[in-house]
Amino acid sequence: MPEQFVIERIKTSDQMITAIKDMHLRGAPLLGLAGAYGTFLAFRESFSKPEPEEYYETKINQLRNCRPTAVNLSWGVSKIDSLVKAGLELARILAGVKSLERNEIEACKNIGGNGFALIRDISNIVGRRPVNIMTHCNAGWLAAINYGTASAPVFIARDENIDVHVWVSETRPLNQGGKLTAWEYFNENISHTVISDNSCGHLLKNGMVDIVITGADRIAKNGDTANKIGTYLKALAAKDNNVPFYIAAPMSTIDFSIKSGKDIKIEERDENEMKYMNGVPIIYELSPVLNHAFDITPAELITGIITDRGIYKPGELLRLNL
Ligand code: MRU
Repeated sequence: MPEQFVIERIKTSDQMITAIKDMHLRGAPLLGLAGAYGTFLAFRESFSKPEPEEYYETKINQLRNCRPTAVNLSWGVSKIDSLVKAGLELARILAGVKSLERNEIEACKNIGGNGFALIRDISNIVGRRPVNIMTHCNAGWLAAINYGTASAPVFIARDENIDVHVWVSETRPLNQGGKLTAWEYFNENISHTVISDNSCGHLLKNGMVDIVITGADRIAKNGDTANKIGTYLKALAAKDNNVPFYIAAPMSTIDFSIKSGKDIKIEERDENEMKYMNGVPIIYELSPVLNHAFDITPAELITGIITDRGIYKPGELLRLNL
């Protein structure tokens, strides 16, 4: 994408591993479901292997470790692995995967409803002009099936005839914003403008943004949040200009096993993602590059976390761990 929209059929756990590593699919909630489906495939394949248990364990470990930052991936693997370990038959395991999928779609819809209330309140204040929303990366239906997370409130606002406009930041180096979010919004008839990542502070300072909403890859118990590299800078600029900064994510993105963002592993990706665009060098090829795919936004910069259960201040998340 965006040149072509291709549906790829994934039939084996190895194909799933490649699809995750090479980012044929990406985005935290979708990675969770990919982990779940991949685990089902690995279990099914194991029946024809000489050492089924060894085969299965190797594959699910490979799946878990394909991408380290989004907790949803290992969450999806663990959910289905627990059904395997409980001795359920294949058909019931597949039913378990489908039920996870339905729950995640429902969760995104609820995030949309909860986040919509924020947009509606701003719209009541700003009156006739559109509500200006800034987002980063892609947290729409390509990343989370049907509604997305950060995009879900925008889709619902559109359905409710609230006038919205979205600033979509390009999201270098892989351009998920410029390629994927822009494609989604264009096709969904949502007013939007693509901006370079570097212009976000400028727009925030000049009163051009009413609210920032981004997705998340992992949220620690204290509310520190990992999301696509560049999110932290938006949160800093939002704080400096008194613009509310929200994270939208399903419960599956909250990692109650870690205290703070310090415990989140940041994925480092291949330098070629930065060096080349469609095979053409765009920076000096002999220079070393550092390609961190995510950053951590500290809880104190986050106004609220829009979940499927409601909107919480980062410090309130602990309440949800029941
Ligand atoms: O590297 P990516 O494209 O998988 O990163 C995705 C993001 O950072 C998204 O904002 C996040 O996963 C939320 S997706 C609903």
